[in-house]
Amino acid sequence: MTQSRPLLRTSLFLALAAPLLLGIAASCSPVRYIMMTASPTGAGPDAEPSLPGLENGLDGWIQARPEVQALLSETLYGAPLPVGVVEVTSRALIDDAAYNGAGRLEMLTLLISLPDDGQGVIDLALVTPNGSSSAAPAILIPSDCGLQAQLLRTDISLNRNPVPSYCEPTGSMLEEYASSFFGEYVVSPPIEQILRRGYAVAAWHESDIAPDRASLHGETLSALGLDPDAPDRPGVIGVWAWMMSRVADALETDPQIDASRLAVMGHSRRAKAALLAGARDERIGVVLAHQSGTGGASLHRDNLGEPIGSITDSYPHWFAPGYAAYAEHEDELPLDAHYLLALIAPRSVLLGNSWRDVWSDPAGAWRAAEAASPVWSLYGVDGLNQTRLDQMDASGRLAYHIRPATHGVRAEDWNAFLDFLDARLEP
Ligand code: GCU
Repeated sequence: MTQSRPLLRTSLFLALAAPLLLGIAASCSPVRYIMMTASPTGAGPDAEPSLPGLENGLDGWIQARPEVQALLSETLYGAPLPVGVVEVTSRALIDDAAYNGAGRLEMLTLLISLPDDGQGVIDLALVTPNGSSSAAPAILIPSDCGLQAQLLRTDISLNRNPVPSYCEPTGSMLEEYASSFFGEYVVSPPIEQILRRGYAVAAWHESDIAPDRASLHGETLSALGLDPDAPDRPGVIGVWAWMMSRVADALETDPQIDASRLAVMGHSRRAKAALLAGARDERIGVVLAHQSGTGGASLHRDNLGEPIGSITDSYPHWFAPGYAAYAEHEDELPLDAHYLLALIAPRSVLLGNSWRDVWSDPAGAWRAAEAASPVWSLYGVDGLNQTRLDQMDASGRLAYHIRPATHGVRAEDWNAFLDFLDARLEP
């Protein structure tokens, strides 16, 4: 009897939800895009404009870099935030045999002080691998659903700020189906597997400082001592990238962590932030940017995935205010996604994708990688060592991973991330 329950629930769910799902599919662009498959060769228009300075070799690129950084800030993400000073104001051991004994879980409080009485606080969970006497490389992973959901533990303090409504309620039928659709690791990474591969995890809830709500973004900036009405005010993607760097500040002083081997991982909107953090902060050795899409690794000029008009309408708080003016005028952008990737060279980037996530434009990310790759060569290291999208080659510092199915985080994604880290974060 009990064995037939899942079947019964599935039939019931389908009967009740099919009309609703069809309605959503017809009206919602990301879902409609699931019916499509990305180009198997990544073919499409070349990335434009070409990267500045390359005709003068490495010196030319190094000279052009500040101009590229400024263009990115003006056009896409807004001004970088002041660095500020990070203090660890509390630290508590929660469990020294967490995740089946694989790691040690601690909770830290980070107090960040900024000019003009700006302040921010982050509750940072640090899980370090047991059984090794040397300092561990760390993966920095922000969470949208809060630390309890991300770490799968109820014995840690509740989030400072509420989680988005889609994170609740737990255990519902809808959640069960959402996780089979978006993958088993969309909320919580495979922490035990990560620890057993020798990596520490640093995790925090992005809403501690910057909730993903347009109506709250002004408050976020004011609390940080910034002017919410400044024409170059940072968007939330910029604030999330800055939070990654502030977590790196704290890890740099931690003897358990090898701060010369730091990686950031982000999915989707957080992948946009991870790429920006990598572009702006040279301490980040590896960026794992999964399905970053528009405003991340995918070329705007591709006109295939999410349009600028749509992203800036739905999420006006994500980017610099001026970005919206390029809707329908993608060709007038003074840069494209390959500029963002090039700024991470000669450090390492893995772009994760899936065939049916055309909303994130996997082909556009492939061509951005191809266009950025020569910058790695200028530094005398390998960039993209792949001729096919579906054969990730971690011998290059710029790599591309793609798998079947849709938007989300699955076991094969984390296998690829960890293989890339093993290759790129060797001691
Ligand atoms: C939306 C948005 C994307 C974003 C994604 C996500 O689909 O349009 O730009 O990447 O949400 O964060 O999951």
